[in-house]
Amino acid sequence: MSADGFSAAPPPGARADWTIDQGWDAYTAVEHGVWDTLYERQAALLPGRAADPFLKGLEALDLHRGGIPDFARINPELKRLTGWTVVAVPGLVPDDVFFDHLANRRFPAGQFIRKADQLDYLQEPDIFHDVFGHVPMLTDPTFADYMEAYGKGGQRALGLGQLHNLARLYWYTVEFGLIDTPAGTRIYGAGIVSSHAESIFALDDPSPNRLGFDLERVMRTPYRIDDFQQVYFVIPSLQALLDATLQDFAAIYRRLEAASDIPIAEILPADRVFTRGTQAYATSK
Ligand SMILES: [Fe+2]
Repeated sequence: MSADGFSAAPPPGARADWTIDQGWDAYTAVEHGVWDTLYERQAALLPGRAADPFLKGLEALDLHRGGIPDFARINPELKRLTGWTVVAVPGLVPDDVFFDHLANRRFPAGQFIRKADQLDYLQEPDIFHDVFGHVPMLTDPTFADYMEAYGKGGQRALGLGQLHNLARLYWYTVEFGLIDTPAGTRIYGAGIVSSHAESIFALDDPSPNRLGFDLERVMRTPYRIDDFQQVYFVIPSLQALLDATLQDFAAIYRRLEAASDIPIAEILPADRVFTRGTQAYATSK
C-alpha cells in the first residue's frame, strides 16, 4: 500500500478487490477447535455485558454450528436481514479497498485463525475477531446503515486527506464502542466483544475514562493499538451514532484542522463523564 492509503496491486492469488476464497474445507480440526474454544468462552461471558443487538445477531447467524463458520452458510441469512455479506481477504487490506467493500455492504474478514496457544492474541485481525466480533452487529439495520455510511465517508475522506480523523471514529465506535442502555452500559465494539480480558476491563475496571460520545471530540482523540484503551466513548443509541455520521464531514474536517488533538486520558469540561478513570492500569505499564 502506498502512504496515501491507495493500493497498488492485490497479492498473488487474490482478486482485484483483494478477496479470496475462504477455503473452508481446508481448515484443520485444531483450527476449528480454536474457534469453538473462543466462542464458548465469549458466549458465556457476554450476556449482561454485550449490547442486545450483538447478542441477537450472534443468535440469528448461529455462529456455533461446530467450528469456524462457513461464509457460504452465514451469508444468505445476513443478506436477508440487512443486505450485508462477509467476504474473505488474506489480511489487512488497503484503505481504499476496505472502504469500497463497506460502501457496498461487504465486510472483509481475515480468512486465517490465531494459533491455539495465542487465544488472547491482539495482532492482525483474524477470523474470530472479524466474524465473531464484527458480523453480529451487521444484522442490526441501524448499525448496518452506519457501516455503509462509514465506508462512503471513508471514500470521501481519502480524497480530502482526513483519514486519521475518520480512523479514530471507527476505532472508538466499531472497534471499542460502548452504548448506554436502560440496563446499564454495554459493549458493542468488535475489539472488545472478541477479547475475553477487554470485555471485563472495558466495563468493570476503574482505570479507563468512560465518556459520552461526541463525534468531533472522538475525532480529536488518539488511541492505543497495543493495549487496553485508556478511554471509551459511550453512545446513547445506534440511531444517534448513525445520525452523527450523516452530517457533512467536510465542514467538520475544516474545523478539526484548526483544533489540536486531545491527550488520550484528558477529560474536558464539556465531556459527559460516565466514569472518571484512575488510569492506574495505563500508568502501571
Ligand atoms: Fe476489527
